[in-house]
Amino acid sequence: MKVLSGIQPSGKLHIGNYFGMMRPMIESMDSNELYAFVVDLHALTSVHDRERLATDTFGAAADFLSLGLDPDKCVFWVQSDVPEVTELTWILSTLTPMGLLERCHSYKDKVAKGIIASHGLFSYPVLMAADILLYQAEKVPVGKDQKQHVEVTRDIAIKFNNTFGETFTIPEPVISKDLATVPGLDGQKMSKSYGNTISIFLDEKELKKRVMAITTDAIPVDDPKDPENCNLFSIFKLFAPEDRLKDVHGLYVNGGAMYGKIKLELVDLIWDYFREARETRARLEGDKGYVRDILFKGAGKAREKAMLTLEQVREKVGLRY
Ligand code: ADP
Ligand code: TRP
Repeated sequence: MKVLSGIQPSGKLHIGNYFGMMRPMIESMDSNELYAFVVDLHALTSVHDRERLATDTFGAAADFLSLGLDPDKCVFWVQSDVPEVTELTWILSTLTPMGLLERCHSYKDKVAKGIIASHGLFSYPVLMAADILLYQAEKVPVGKDQKQHVEVTRDIAIKFNNTFGETFTIPEPVISKDLATVPGLDGQKMSKSYGNTISIFLDEKELKKRVMAITTDAIPVDDPKDPENCNLFSIFKLFAPEDRLKDVHGLYVNGGAMYGKIKLELVDLIWDYFREARETRARLEGDKGYVRDILFKGAGKAREKAMLTLEQVREKVGLRY
């Protein structure tokens, strides 16, 4: 199965991104033809700071590699290194009804949050459609908030196929149902935009500060508590070995769970969980050339595929004379 997904390099990646998106992608590498990329052109719709965009693009790529993405088992690149995507975006935009974009929640939400309503922000879903259709992806794993964009992609692809003849694979969104949303420090969805995250690569002091800030209730230690409604327990569950999880579950249900102690244990668990990745990440930070080389080769592989599709498209719409 051809699986494709992109991640925006806007801010530091957090454990919600890891369990919700990065780990499932990394795990799907062995059994699928995987296309993974860092969408810097999309990030430009909200980041207008040269240093930040460049640093975060490199950072997101290095994070992915450190966490186990194997560039030999997938195609891994930075979006803007394949310029064909912008040409396809233009061609698709000439077929995209305004109303389709006007209905997109993500655009409306971002404008409501204060992001400037630029043309790029408005046509963001067309660039995303080009990302997906250029590689003829079959499955697109995304968070719930991106489902509508994959539906827009399907609509555009169907319209193109009907107008110019069978060209694009119609992709399907994949939304992992069994993955509960990882809660943030305050119990809401962990998200960069809520400032409630635990980043994957923090130093130990900073990690401790974040974990100690997880909000908990004021039920006395010896009273029973509901683990399923406790964001500390939900995060603990992601990192604790099974037998320890059972013990702590027992303390919640029967009384005796001390939040402070559980938090300190969680700091150690997170620290150990990402130990190897952290070491690799530090190594990559010191060897930027190595990462750039991987991305350069990845872009080469992606471009080969992209050019095949784009050539067909040019032919079909009449841009070859
Ligand atoms: P953020 O909300 O921090 O800006 P993004 O919207 O950039 O994160 O999400 C990138 C990917 O990470 C998406 O596939 C999304 O579904 C996943 N993701 C983000 N936050 C969480 C979370 N709290 N729990 C599970 N998955 C998440
Ligand atoms: N818009 C997606 C997000 O914000 C990122 C993205 C860009 C993407 N292009 C994509 C995801 C193609 C899947 C497929 O999360």
